[in-house]
Amino acid sequence: MEFDFTRLPPQDRYRLLTNFVGPRPIALVTTRSAGGHNNAAPMSFFNVFSQDPPIVILGVQTRGDGGEKDTLVNIRRTGEFCVNMVDMELAEGMIMCGVNFSPDVDEPAFAGLDTAPCRQIDARYLIRTPCAMECRVERIIDYPSRAIILGEVVEMTVRDDCLDVRGRYVNPEVYQPIARLHADNYIVADRQFELTKPAAAAQWEVAQLTPQKKRAT
Ligand SMILES: Cc1cc2nc3c(=O)[nH]c(=O)nc-3n(C[C@H](O)[C@H](O)[C@H](O)COP(=O)(O)O)c2cc1C
Repeated sequence: MEFDFTRLPPQDRYRLLTNFVGPRPIALVTTRSAGGHNNAAPMSFFNVFSQDPPIVILGVQTRGDGGEKDTLVNIRRTGEFCVNMVDMELAEGMIMCGVNFSPDVDEPAFAGLDTAPCRQIDARYLIRTPCAMECRVERIIDYPSRAIILGEVVEMTVRDDCLDVRGRYVNPEVYQPIARLHADNYIVADRQFELTKPAAAAQWEVAQLTPQKKRAT
């Protein structure tokens, strides 16, 4: 089957894109409202795109009535948000936070998720999240029905048991994020495997000269 995206209604594009581009990691985004309430919303139009600068990206759709979601309203006001990664322990709470509550509802509390103050931004992170990333807005790209938010990570808080003893690499036995597939289908990263280049690959690779070596030639 073929689909001409230039002619397809947005809801069909959404269905096809989200059915095939997956699994998509889930950011449970926590923000602070003007009234001081804690807001939390899951976003699967999310990923990390760079480490220098450290940039994560969120895609926030407008509501059916054309209004902005609380997450976007809060991010525009404060310029700050926290991305909480989600595992099975947080799955039920995450779904609860996807309910369209009014802005004065403390969504993490309603969902039974304990929080603590972020270190560098005015928001709270989820204590049980495997990893929380505090972000400041780098830029927001506005489309008629969507805002794409680039956030610079300024602080990362990792739950101790998710890292190896030296605190360098993730512990895959413990950190098993969930991700969104199509519709209400999710997957958990509990069947991980290693894939390495063949031993001969070193001979085939184009030499990557360090700046020092380049100068010497
Ligand atoms: C797993 C999951 C992923 C979602 N991803 C997005 C997303 O990427 N962008 C978006 O605008 N809404 C997404 N939603 C819907 C929002 O979470 C939902 O509209 C929420 O009520 C917004 O809350 P807020 O008004 O507090 O910001 C997602 C929902 C779920 C359950």
